[in-house]
Amino acid sequence: MADEQTRRTVEALRTAIEQHRYRYYILSDPHVTDAEFDALVAELADYETRHPELDRPDSPTHTVGAAPSPAFAAVQHRRQMLSLDNVFDREGLLAWAERVARGLEGATPAFVCELKVDGVAISVNYADGRLERAVTRGDGRTGEDVTHQVRTIDGVPDWIERPDAAVVDTWPPAVLEARGEVYYPVAEFAAMNTAREEAGEPRFANPRNAASGALRQKDPAITATRPLRLVCHGMGVVEGVAVHSQSAFLSLLDAAGLPVAPETRTVADIDAVWAFIEEWGRRRHEPTYEIDGVVVKVDDHGHQRRLGATSKAPRWAIAFKYPPEEQQTRLEGIEVNVGRTGKVTPFAVLDPVLVAGSTISLATLHNEDQARLKDVRPGDTVVVRKAGDVIPEVVGYVASLRPPEVERAGPWHMPTVCPFCGSPIQRLEGEAASYCTNLDCPNRLLESVAHFASRGAMDIEGLGYETAKLLLDQELVSDLADIYHLERDDLLELERFGPKKVDNLLAGIASSKDQPLERLLVGLNIRHVGGNVARLIARHFSTMDALRTADAAAIAAVGGVGPVIAEAVRGFVDNPRNAALVDKLAAGGVRMDTEFVRGEATLDGWTIVLTGGLDRYTRDEAKQAIEDRGGKVTSSVSGKTSAVVAGADPGTKADKAAELGVPLIDEDAFVTLLETGELP
Ligand code: IVH
Repeated sequence: MADEQTRRTVEALRTAIEQHRYRYYILSDPHVTDAEFDALVAELADYETRHPELDRPDSPTHTVGAAPSPAFAAVQHRRQMLSLDNVFDREGLLAWAERVARGLEGATPAFVCELKVDGVAISVNYADGRLERAVTRGDGRTGEDVTHQVRTIDGVPDWIERPDAAVVDTWPPAVLEARGEVYYPVAEFAAMNTAREEAGEPRFANPRNAASGALRQKDPAITATRPLRLVCHGMGVVEGVAVHSQSAFLSLLDAAGLPVAPETRTVADIDAVWAFIEEWGRRRHEPTYEIDGVVVKVDDHGHQRRLGATSKAPRWAIAFKYPPEEQQTRLEGIEVNVGRTGKVTPFAVLDPVLVAGSTISLATLHNEDQARLKDVRPGDTVVVRKAGDVIPEVVGYVASLRPPEVERAGPWHMPTVCPFCGSPIQRLEGEAASYCTNLDCPNRLLESVAHFASRGAMDIEGLGYETAKLLLDQELVSDLADIYHLERDDLLELERFGPKKVDNLLAGIASSKDQPLERLLVGLNIRHVGGNVARLIARHFSTMDALRTADAAAIAAVGGVGPVIAEAVRGFVDNPRNAALVDKLAAGGVRMDTEFVRGEATLDGWTIVLTGGLDRYTRDEAKQAIEDRGGKVTSSVSGKTSAVVAGADPGTKADKAAELGVPLIDEDAFVTLLETGELP
């Protein structure tokens, strides 16, 4: 019999797990890592095995997900959406395969190996071929109606296509329910997080939270602005078409125009399954989605039926989880860096640790609030994560491992003076960021020079961070324009700078003089002016002189710019120091105009939606062509859309255009539009 202490531990574990599930599924804001969560469930399961009298059917070890959020209509799944049991190593996998073999009394099943996509589980229902309803998993029995949100996802067809006659004889099926994951592609996720950070907004912890957040927007128009995707991996209720295996179902979905994972393989034995697991462990970061393991399924539906399911998971499938890309390490210290805008960013100095294949010794803490929120302190054991994003992150500290002296030391504080120049550090009211108040802070200048020379700006070959540091240390450069006044003889005096290296650097500097105005604007490090804004401004004004004489209203009137950016630009050029810098750059031979010809903005004021594949343009090229002419590209069709360009296999956006009476044009008409600025 379990004692009172055990009873209480089990209840505490259950409460904790339910709370973590609520945070994860409903708030999209987990407070523990996946590995920590899995460990809690494993601990509870272990207690329940040792004390069966404490087990209960509603224990979180037998249930999945969390109850639906009240913001969306609750919908009952016609067939329960199950979860999966996990294994973490080869032994676990082989033990599962043995249970399968026993269950099938020696029959040798084929296995389907799929990547385990770390997304938001969803059921998509087609009735008589038409997308009728999309529902989140919720607690597995009841989920939330997110049909309108899912309709905005690129690649989710409104109608399923008829596959080849050889595959089906009647079409469309009365009911076809596909299950899958909605995900936020990793590259887009990284870009979005960078943009959020630049805008001073909090970063998303991982792509799954970002996907969940986007899907849970009450206004589907907001969901439509996010680059969500769907990948299908499972069969729900299907009526009106015969399907006898998992592989056949995936082929049917593919033929019907639903997205399936290209990585999926059907294999004949468990050795081949293991090879698949090992291969994707190595290639873990190649797919467009974040994955946390491999799902292995017995292919044949007859076999699946014989094996059956527990209340929580099918016996015919198993999830192999890759080791977490999180590690614990010691936080040696918290230091701050001063960036090119003067912004002071705290970062963690870590005892180097291997995470996701790379050694991490530094990790950003973003700003004072973020650092205080995490409450990490030098001497703590911290959890370091690398997720969907190349930037490593400190998740938090391990409370049970905090030494008493660290506890006594109290929370970390932002230093009051800059470690590089001793000037006061200031935090403006209402802003998350702190700044070094010295405009000439040596570290700020170093970061500015490195940025000026970087790829997206003047792209000066041979002038990287280290060289920039050397030039500043030797006082050969004390502002950006000094780069164009360097003397060969001075450079030859630098340590490890032979004639060849010097000449390469000078050649790199010389050729950067021809960079167009938009690159120079990026390099000048004006607040809010990144590549896109710089391009819009350069295209509009064509020359630096025209920009310098334009007032804020004229700058704000440039499509895509607006008053905040305009003020920043005006503020920059009005500052006499900057004006002198620009003059000095011009005197050094730097080009002050662009090849964009003014008056070419034939699509000024146009909002265009692209759907389907074009023959003559990639999606990016088409977008660029529109933007180069002053037009805007959006991802969802609304009453404000000027035209929808429909290529091959247009998605639901073409239907939406017809519905709203928005002009729907083909590729030829698009070419005419680009050339003339008018619809043919
Ligand atoms: S099959 C009855 N296949 O992982 C089988 N699930 O941790 C149910 N997941 O609830 C799931 N990739 O949301 C399956 N290729 C895949 C998957 C996958 C991701 C999710 C799914 C499931 C969860 C279990």
